[in-house]
Amino acid sequence: MAFQNLLTEDRGAVRVITVNRPDKLNALNRATLTELHLAFDQAAADDAIRAVVLRGAGEKAFVAGADIAELAGLSAVQARDLSRHGQRLMSKVERLGKPVIAMIGGWALGGGLELAMCCHLRVASEKAKLGLPEITLGVLPGFGGTQRLLRLAGRGAALELTLTGAPIDAARAHALGLVTRVVAPDQLEAETMKLAEQLATLAPQAVRAILDTALVGGESAIDVGLEFETQAFGVCFSTEDMREGTTAFLEKRKPAFSGR
Ligand code: COA
Repeated sequence: MAFQNLLTEDRGAVRVITVNRPDKLNALNRATLTELHLAFDQAAADDAIRAVVLRGAGEKAFVAGADIAELAGLSAVQARDLSRHGQRLMSKVERLGKPVIAMIGGWALGGGLELAMCCHLRVASEKAKLGLPEITLGVLPGFGGTQRLLRLAGRGAALELTLTGAPIDAARAHALGLVTRVVAPDQLEAETMKLAEQLATLAPQAVRAILDTALVGGESAIDVGLEFETQAFGVCFSTEDMREGTTAFLEKRKPAFSGR
């Protein structure tokens, strides 16, 4: 299906999803959120796709937030509904079972930072600026940002960003653990694709297990996380990929993982 507000492209086993509203700095209107739901459903269902890169069109922005022109006219009931729609998308991305990398070339504000935070890895250009400016509009982040920032960067940083609304640069975001890698602007696409292609060569079941352990463990007592890890570790030994990985090591060759 053709999207109105997204571009999708497959580069080998990597699907690149681009939010494509550059004249509005890729702001997330409701239609774009709905298309992102569909695009991530498609990426999850396609066995040939092993990693996803999420980016914004143009040089200026990853995504500059929810569409303020749309927010301005919402009733309380519609705002609650929009928040659920956004939160469900963010949870879907987080639980995709395949690694998703946010490629942040410029502004990642509000819903844009919330979208980046539900991705598993975030690669930012040195020029990127990140923030949660909702407070300056008289509201708070509504797509999971208050909760994910707390978990990623701790209470102090989360309250500083949500209460001041002021954006921070990529270096500070990296120091806070909010982005996982910072690169020169002209290297952003190449470095992000290199990372995605590397992730796409790995054994998909083991990758999924690692993503799941981080999700479960991040929200549980350590004993629960450790037990989940033990079970996932055992399950890996039922896969052909585990045999391939260990055999390839012993035969001094590169493994070719099938996903089985
Ligand atoms: N929603 C809707 N439209 C947005 C938008 C958003 N979140 N962010 C940017 N735009 C639109 C602008 O209205 C402008 O549209 P126009 O050309 O039709 O007037 C266009 O994108 C370009 O933005 P502009 O503000 O002119 O660019 P800038 O370089 O001067 O400033 C920002 C960039 C990111 C600082 C500024 O656009 C901004 O503050 N955006 C809102 C960020 C925000 O509060 N996000 C949280 C929303 S909950």
